[in-house]
Amino acid sequence: MENEKASEKLPRHVGIIMDGNGRWAARKGIMRTNGHTEGLKTARRIVEAASLRGISYLTLFVFSTENWKRAAQEVDFIMSLVKQHLTRELDFYRENHIRIRHTGDITGLAPDIIAEIDEARCGTKDFDGMQVILALNYGGRNAIIRAAQRFLRQSPAMSCGAAAEALNEDELRRNLDNPDVPDPDLIIRTAGEFRTSNFLLWEAAYAEYFITDKFWPDFSVEDFDAALASYAARERRFGANAKIGPAKR
Ligand code: IPE
Ligand code: IPE
Ligand code: MG
Repeated sequence: MENEKASEKLPRHVGIIMDGNGRWAARKGIMRTNGHTEGLKTARRIVEAASLRGISYLTLFVFSTENWKRAAQEVDFIMSLVKQHLTRELDFYRENHIRIRHTGDITGLAPDIIAEIDEARCGTKDFDGMQVILALNYGGRNAIIRAAQRFLRQSPAMSCGAAAEALNEDELRRNLDNPDVPDPDLIIRTAGEFRTSNFLLWEAAYAEYFITDKFWPDFSVEDFDAALASYAARERRFGANAKIGPAKR
């Protein structure tokens, strides 16, 4: 019973805005790229911890649709890290029965990165352990637009008016990149900013947020557990009345 209660309070889907790699490096007086390398090590540690704790879905915000504004050298470095990681760590994912997925605008990525993502996706598609969803070239607004476009492309025979009538929340959801993935319950953001930065705008309508000042490379398994504990202590209301005793009414 106790265990049942504990698992009830475990978020099924956790999203992480892995922010602060650059500031972590700047504080040490080293290059931003070193921050990204360290950040990747954190990501691996947290993937492992999340899988051990029984999280079903983990979405990692790796690169946003806005991150192309950065210096080409930094963008290239991040992309090469992603590629390297997918090549080298496929065994780690396989050993842990972790399924890799992608969300974001795949068409905007270089062919070698697309090939690597496809390889990881195909090589892990039958695993029934945790699902890691890599948000790469991901933007919440872009994701909603692409979902609406998919919907409209599937309904070419409909008149504009009929398509407008037929579009509803369920239809839009069905046309997202990974419609079977449930909405995130908990979103963690490192490096202290109180903003979404275009992450899971549609899906996070009722997510709980946990924001820490720690820079992503410093984010530990203990910090992850603190986020899970914070989540477990919250009351989610989804717009309904708060559960308050009669004396407080
Ligand atoms: C997060 O760290 C990684 C990406 C956005 C790719 P940042 O690179 O944004 O680090 P800060 O915010 O500059 O410290
Ligand atoms: C969000 O961080 C994107 C990722 C973590 C991949 P940013 O560093 O891009 O966000 P802003 O620019 O501070 O809002
Ligand atoms: Mg940042």
